[in-house]
Amino acid sequence: MLEKIRFDFSFVFSPNISDGLTEDEINSYSEKITRIIDEIEADAPGFLEVPFDKRNIDSVKELAAKYRYFKDYDDFVVLGIGGSALGNIALRDSLNGLDWNRLSRDGRKGFPRIHVVDNVDPDFVSSILKNLDMKKTIFNVISKSGSTAEAMANYMVVRGIIESLGLDVRKHLIITTDPENGVLRKIASEENIDSLEIPPRVGGRFSVLTPVGLLSAIAGGLNIDALIDGAKNAYSLLKERNIWKNPAALNALVHYLYYTRGKNISVMMSYSNRLYSLADWYRQLWAESLGKKYDINGNEVNVGQTPVKALGATDQHSQIQLYNEGPNDKIVTFLVVRKFDNTVKIPKIHEDIDSLAYLGGKSLNELLSSEQRATAYSLAQNNRPNLNVEFSEICEESIGEFIFTYELQTAIMGKLLNINAFDQPGVEMGKKLTYSLMGRKGYSQFKEILEKSIKKYIV
Ligand code: PA5
Repeated sequence: MLEKIRFDFSFVFSPNISDGLTEDEINSYSEKITRIIDEIEADAPGFLEVPFDKRNIDSVKELAAKYRYFKDYDDFVVLGIGGSALGNIALRDSLNGLDWNRLSRDGRKGFPRIHVVDNVDPDFVSSILKNLDMKKTIFNVISKSGSTAEAMANYMVVRGIIESLGLDVRKHLIITTDPENGVLRKIASEENIDSLEIPPRVGGRFSVLTPVGLLSAIAGGLNIDALIDGAKNAYSLLKERNIWKNPAALNALVHYLYYTRGKNISVMMSYSNRLYSLADWYRQLWAESLGKKYDINGNEVNVGQTPVKALGATDQHSQIQLYNEGPNDKIVTFLVVRKFDNTVKIPKIHEDIDSLAYLGGKSLNELLSSEQRATAYSLAQNNRPNLNVEFSEICEESIGEFIFTYELQTAIMGKLLNINAFDQPGVEMGKKLTYSLMGRKGYSQFKEILEKSIKKYIV
């Protein structure tokens, strides 16, 4: 087994940065981390089983084969939100590439375009729907609960269009939801609509390597076995009780220790446009899992580290001034690609102009890499901790390994913070108020709360 990603923690530690962490500090947590990993393996949160659950992959492959790998369709559209969408976007952008939907059918080797409708902004939704030939489009409605207003509303909009055109919903809808519960499961069973199961014990933000993310991945021609192999690589490193050889544990501990030192913000800065959506996926994972009011003993703790995304080199000209000289409240993770698919050479022109001549004959690859190294070093000089996640290349295995490492890391961080990383009670109030504002039966009391309790300041 050869890992496709590796972590460079150099600028997290003293003496590379002053006031950095020390090896002794890490070693002093050795027993605790071992205990945490033992606990995680014993409790086995649902996501831990995902790479080893053959049914996950087999069900997706069987359905894809039934649909001839969607080659009869021009467009494959995911309708979902949060954990039922962000992983799909990250897989498409990183592995299909940012121009996938602009490629010709030949360029896509006959596979459909992949869209993810993860909002109810009417302009956004219309901008996608209006460009589809509905006869050649298949929609994958994804919702674990089957009750999320955004996903359900988009499902109803789409179904309305399909029916108004006299098309057979069974040829244009696939449902991905809980195996037993929820209205989507009922609809799928009663109407004999093809469906896939989200393992009941796997929460939304941990579900990208289940049918949630795998169906749109296979529809885009991706090798889902290799994605899972990457996840297995990550899992094999979790078995390593030596924290210095266990990236998920070490990175969780590094983030935890810096959090206790006031680094309330975790920036993920991708030096790859293709990996930028992974930072979006990470934002949900880190925020929703770790931002909690109560610890597991019921004490009010209000913990969590705010995840922020940034893009290098673009945001060097937007954010780095703040990161270097503003409040020292961040730990920065750079996503770095060692081997890009393309090499873009800069021609040797303007050799008589010093301010341009140094670029001639080099490549954009060298420039981007130099910029990342320079940014990391300058942050370190300013006593700002930062680390690299280095992808040997962008491929299914490296992405699968990254995803699973971060899922493991989040579970470990949850234990370090002594909170439940797998619930999201803070999202509930907003959901209930929305139901009430939209007139859902049984939720009218929330509308009264909203209307009565606010003193307005409208200017
Ligand atoms: O991580 C989570 O559980 C959430 O972010 C969900 O993914 C999100 O709310 C969508 O839920 P559902 O899949 O039930 O529609």
